[in-house]
Amino acid sequence: MTQMARTRADSPPPGGTQTMSAHTTTGTIASPAQGAGSPHTPCAEVRPGEALDPRMPTRAHTRGDVILDLQHISLAFGGVKALTDISFDVCEHEIRAIIGPNGAGKSSMLNVINGVYHPQQGRIVFRGEERRQMHPTAAARQGIARTFQNIALFKGMTVLDNIMTGRNTLFRSGILAHALWWGPARAEEMRHRRKVEEVIDFLEIQAIRKTPVGRLPYGLQKRVELARALAAEPSMLLLDEPMAGMNVEEKQDMCRFILDVNQQFGTTIVLIEHDMGVVMDISDRVVVLDYGKKIGDGTPEEVKANPDVIRAYLGASH
Ligand SMILES: Nc1ncnc2c1ncn2[C@@H]1O[C@H](COP(=O)(O)OP(=O)(O)O)[C@@H](O)[C@H]1O
Ligand SMILES: [Mg+2]
Repeated sequence: MTQMARTRADSPPPGGTQTMSAHTTTGTIASPAQGAGSPHTPCAEVRPGEALDPRMPTRAHTRGDVILDLQHISLAFGGVKALTDISFDVCEHEIRAIIGPNGAGKSSMLNVINGVYHPQQGRIVFRGEERRQMHPTAAARQGIARTFQNIALFKGMTVLDNIMTGRNTLFRSGILAHALWWGPARAEEMRHRRKVEEVIDFLEIQAIRKTPVGRLPYGLQKRVELARALAAEPSMLLLDEPMAGMNVEEKQDMCRFILDVNQQFGTTIVLIEHDMGVVMDISDRVVVLDYGKKIGDGTPEEVKANPDVIRAYLGASH
C-alpha cells in the first residue's frame, strides 16, 4: 500500500455534505439507439466550434491536439483495484467528462492526473512529456488546478484570502521579502491581488469577498473553490463533482461559469459529474468508468447509446 493510500485525497478537511448517487440525475441515459459508441473517439472527430446545445453559446476555442494521454493506467490500494488498465486522452480546450457510479474510480483518476496518486502501471504523457512520480505541486506548476469532491477551503478565512491561496505556487519572492513587504515582493503581491480581484469579478462574488467561507451557503462555497482553482490561472482544470449537492439554480450558475471559463480562457476541463443532463449538455467527450474499468468513451450521443453504459447505470444499485 502506498503512502497516499492511507488518506482519501478527495476528502481533505471535513465540511462537505453531499454524495449524489448516479441515479439522482436530471437527465437519463437513453436506451440503445444506433448501436454502441466507439470505444475511443479521437479529437479530430469532435466537431470544433460547434454549439453543443441550442441553449449554449457557440464555443470560442476550437479543440486542439491531445495534451494529456493516459495509457493503461492501473491503480490499487492494497487489494482494492481502483483503476484497471484505463486509457483515454484529453484534448486542449475541450470539456472532458468522467462519469460512472459511486466507487467507479473517478476521483482516483483525477488524483492520478494531478499527481496525488501514482499508478502502479501505465504511462501519463502531459504536453508531450512522460511524467514519472510527479508531485501535486509540480502538476500545479504545469498549469493543472483542481477542486475537490468535498470542499477543501479554510472555513475561518475570508473568501478573498482563500482565493489568494490559489496563487501560492506562483509566488516567486521569498517569504522574508513578503514579510517585509519589500521591493519586488510588493509588486508581486499587487499583481496577485489584481488577478484575484479579476477572478472575483468573473465569478460574481464581489459581495462576499470579505465573508468567512464557513458562513456561506454550500453552493457559494463550491463557487469559491472554483475561484481558488482559477486564481492559479490553470490551463487544465480538474473539477470533482462541482455541482453535487446544489439546487437547480446553483447548478445552472455553476454550469454557466464552467462554460464561460472554457470559452473565455480556453481552459481545458476534466469534469466529474453525476448529473447526466449537465454532462450531456456541456461536455465534448465522455469517458465512462465502472468498477475501475473503462466501459465507454465518446461523444455524449455515443455513450448514451452504448449498451454497456446503459447496463451499468440501470443496473447500479447505488
Ligand atoms: N486513498 C484510498 N485508500 C483506499 N482505497 C481508496 C482510496 N481512494 C479510493 N479508494 C477506493 O478506490 C475505489 C474508487 O474510489 P473513487 O476513486 O473515490 O471512486 P468515485 O470517485 O468514482 O466514487 C473505491 O473502492 C474506493 O474505496
Ligand atoms: Mg469521487
